[in-house]
Amino acid sequence: MLGRVNHIAIAVPDLEQATTTYRDVLGARVSQAQALPEHGVTVVFVELDNTKVELLEPLGAESPIAAFLEKNPSGGMHHICYEVEDIVDARDRLKASGLRVLGDGNPKIGAHGKPVLFLHPKDLNGTLVELEQV
Ligand code: CO
Repeated sequence: MLGRVNHIAIAVPDLEQATTTYRDVLGARVSQAQALPEHGVTVVFVELDNTKVELLEPLGAESPIAAFLEKNPSGGMHHICYEVEDIVDARDRLKASGLRVLGDGNPKIGAHGKPVLFLHPKDLNGTLVELEQV
């Protein structure tokens, strides 16, 4: 069911500083910052040969990562995203195995314009998992 790692997302309190660190200190290729108000984040993509790292900064009062940053003020790994071929099939099979899908259970269009779902971290060893249909 699981394909490649599509991205690893890190919540950061200061996107400009995190971008500078990845670009100038770690020597990675980074994108321009992109505001995604419908997801409550501003994101910078760190483009690596084998995957992407997404640096997420809260945007707006109802950002889904605001509470995470309150608990982890210096930032932290927020989620890992795996690719699947058929997200509805994956969801149905995971639900049948007892995994909980967050929200209303229906795929939403994610930051890359593709359908995504999130799975409950308590069902996956404390890790928030995103599935993206590619
Ligand atoms: Co993601």
